[in-house]
Amino acid sequence: MDLTIDVNIPQIESSSYPIFINDETIAKLKETLDEKTQGKKRLVIFSQKVYKLYGKILNFDKKEIFILKDGENQKTLKNFQKIIEKAISLQLSRKDVIIAIGGGVVGDMSGFVASSYMRGIEYIQVPTTLLACVDSSVGGKTAIDMPNGKNYVGAFYQPSAVYINTNFLKTLDEKQYKSGFGEVIKYAFIEKSCNCSENYNLLEYLQTNKENYEKREDEFLCKIIEICLNLKASVVSQDEKEAGLRKILNLGHTFGHAIEEITKYKRYTHGYGVVQGLMYIFNYALNNGFCDKKYYDKAFTLMNIYGYHPDKFCFINKKKVMQLMKTDKKSDSTTLTLIVPSQEKVVVEHKIDKTQELTFSVNYQN
Ligand SMILES: NC(=O)c1ccc[n+]([C@@H]2O[C@H](COP(=O)([O-])OP(=O)(O)OC[C@H]3O[C@@H](n4cnc5c(N)ncnc54)[C@H](O)[C@@H]3O)[C@@H](O)[C@H]2O)c1
Repeated sequence: MDLTIDVNIPQIESSSYPIFINDETIAKLKETLDEKTQGKKRLVIFSQKVYKLYGKILNFDKKEIFILKDGENQKTLKNFQKIIEKAISLQLSRKDVIIAIGGGVVGDMSGFVASSYMRGIEYIQVPTTLLACVDSSVGGKTAIDMPNGKNYVGAFYQPSAVYINTNFLKTLDEKQYKSGFGEVIKYAFIEKSCNCSENYNLLEYLQTNKENYEKREDEFLCKIIEICLNLKASVVSQDEKEAGLRKILNLGHTFGHAIEEITKYKRYTHGYGVVQGLMYIFNYALNNGFCDKKYYDKAFTLMNIYGYHPDKFCFINKKKVMQLMKTDKKSDSTTLTLIVPSQEKVVVEHKIDKTQELTFSVNYQN
């Protein structure tokens, strides 16, 4: 399996880049990275766990490595500064390169460092979680968190290339694997709205491939990554900076972010927050006449097949969740923007007045 997807952003010619997807050995990946960065100084940013697992085989020079501890709470201004200082100590110039090897945390942080170091330096993404492979490594959203909110400071800054190797996904623990799959399911519900020239029928493909998901079968992994990234590339090429269409990628995220925040990024991973956000928004869609019961049932059945069930929210302050939703970055002072499922695989943008009462409902309605 060896695929290439080109992300073309017409507004900025230099922001077009390839995504390589394959299952070759990790050692071969290192050779490719060495070739690609030949003659340049490098700063290689690893997530701690990935370094433990793959540091030896990737065998970068210790001097060029920065190891970022694991966890959402590492996407901080303090770590941003530490990495910038490392880049300065390596005397990186604008002609040099940063390589991010890890999940979305490392990717977001490295991308933001790259966007601001000397007003912009090349960076390469090597995503090692399913979530980073299907979503965060592509599209150029980079960010760090602030005490008042997640991804509060950041930039749109595209990588020069993305190298995806499905072998990394074999060592992901079950929780992280399932978290990434939450974003895959999201793509199944927005497929038609992505205006992609290809018809993938991701929803139907997922309905019949649970076994391959469980086995982490390479062909299955390459296929879902290929589909999600083609859909994302299609959206991002039409709207790089989220002025319009790109908002659809936020399906499930307004509720998901609130759930992540209220549980302090410990109980729920990002993808699991998103799946709960999908359950919430499908309930909203059904109750407010956006989608019919048949599609609602189909959506809940798919989430059930992959083992996502509405969790017990009894210990969660539901009122706080609803309040947090209203502080979402995509809203303004008076209105909240929700992305809502309507017809099969289609979503619509829906603005509601912030004074409007929102009800909390994630459970399946018979
Ligand atoms: N930029 C975007 O467009 C975008 C989109 C979605 C999410 N995000 C961001 O992505 C972050 C979440 O990313 P994530 O879910 O990848 O989590 P993560 O980066 O925290 O990684 C999860 C855990 O998996 C470990 N890990 C990574 N690769 C591994 C491997 N191959 N084997 C074993 N363990 C491995 C990591 O070390 C970490 O402990 C959030 O900060 C979110 O805001 C960004």
